[in-house]
Amino acid sequence: MNTDAAHASPLAPEWLAVPGDLNALQAPMWAAGVEKNDAGEVTIDGIPVSVLKEQFGTPLFVMSESDFRSRARAFKDAFDAAFEDICGGVDVYYAGKSFLCTAVASWVADEGLRLDTCSGGELAVAARAGIEGAHLGLHGNNKSDAEINRALDMAVGRIVVDSLDELERVAKIASSRGETAKVMLRLTPGVHAHTHEFIATAHEDQKFGLSMAEDSTEEAGLSAAEEAVAAATSYPSIELLGLHCHIGSQIFEPDGFAVAAEKLVGFLAAMQAKYSIHLPELDLGGGYGIAYTPVDTPRPPAEIAQAMAAVVRSTCSELGITPPRISIEPGRAIVGSTTFTLYEVGTLKTVRVDAPEGAIGQENVTYPRRYVSVDGGMSDNARPVLYDADYSAILASRDSEAAPQLSRVVGKHCESGDIVVRDVYLPADVAAGDLLAVPGTGAYCWALSSNYNYLARPGVVAVRDGAARLIVRGETEEDLLNRDMGVANV
Ligand code: LLP
Repeated sequence: MNTDAAHASPLAPEWLAVPGDLNALQAPMWAAGVEKNDAGEVTIDGIPVSVLKEQFGTPLFVMSESDFRSRARAFKDAFDAAFEDICGGVDVYYAGKSFLCTAVASWVADEGLRLDTCSGGELAVAARAGIEGAHLGLHGNNKSDAEINRALDMAVGRIVVDSLDELERVAKIASSRGETAKVMLRLTPGVHAHTHEFIATAHEDQKFGLSMAEDSTEEAGLSAAEEAVAAATSYPSIELLGLHCHIGSQIFEPDGFAVAAEKLVGFLAAMQAKYSIHLPELDLGGGYGIAYTPVDTPRPPAEIAQAMAAVVRSTCSELGITPPRISIEPGRAIVGSTTFTLYEVGTLKTVRVDAPEGAIGQENVTYPRRYVSVDGGMSDNARPVLYDADYSAILASRDSEAAPQLSRVVGKHCESGDIVVRDVYLPADVAAGDLLAVPGTGAYCWALSSNYNYLARPGVVAVRDGAARLIVRGETEEDLLNRDMGVANV
């Protein structure tokens, strides 16, 4: 028996509702300035996607510069307001790993934010963009000597040291240069958060950071974190600014941040008392979630800021310490929703799939799933393959009155796991040549892109005041062959 239900498909995940209006843009996922025009086409700042395709080709990352700037400001303003009376405001370091190019680095600086980097390459982008060294942080669990030297050359405001081993190396390198390195220590507070929940564990089993668990070093009773504080204060070439933690990604609820803040403030107070030192700074990392699908419900920055501020305020006052200057490192929450990826539809096919296991009375029933292939895929968005991440999509080049059809948007790579949007309802008449837009692709998509199957990486277009310009050009075939040494060298 075939059941071509036009509406809710039993193959769809429970969270996915059939949209009331397939042609409507669902607000939480799209950048400000993205709309549908009278012809039913998706536009950004008034520019129709067909014009962008004509000018720049597909696939294409389309970013709203004004949306980026306003999300950056929103974080800065919300956290400044919440922490004003505690520590005079907050330093917001945009996490460059989520998306970085020189244009974006310069917007970050314009809006009064700083920049968190995690490699020599990211430092090179910052240098090219003319970002002041004092406004840069350098992360990484395995910084090379060259990266540490580069950070010192650029006089970065903070090197976030990840291990005892690295602390010693930074101290030696700084000492050999006759300099003092400004250092934060990255601690692992045993708080792991993801979306709506967090878990607290005593021990850490991960590559990042210095454990706060008391038996985490050979020294009886001393945590790796404390050993690092003690060592840092003993090196004349290290200026220990303070402590850092980062508890996870795509987090909606403020509770995990609050628990981590409480732990870190407590530890900071204990270290100040025990070692007679002053640690003026505390960084509480990034990880603030965004909407990828209509069921995601991120909190406004002010709500998270206030929850974190309440804990910092009360813990500091309980412990009788002067509150440290707070900093945070949002990446995804600033850039994620500023961008959509524009694809052109190619091959379509529909398969029939058995009813999901346990569907009573449907043992012999099959349901259709339509595969909609686009001209990119896992090379421009690896997140579905890497993290089972869900996305959404809309038919962007026209309106359609056709019925909703459960669809799977897939790429053109030679892998069956090459999925862009696992489950989405699209109009049943989607056809080759249509354009699809996938929202929420600003963070960790272009940044994670690859040349798998010799696909050229897409360009990134920024739209501002009704004009679009490339901020990163797409790769050409020439680029793809650039590093191939050629048959003459065989
Ligand atoms: N600070 C540190 C030390 C981090 O490790 C990260 C992210 C951030 C800040 C920024 O986190 P955000 O606010 O963007 O969540 N590729 C994964 C995410 C990896 C995050 C790595 N660290 C993904 O696509 O979900």
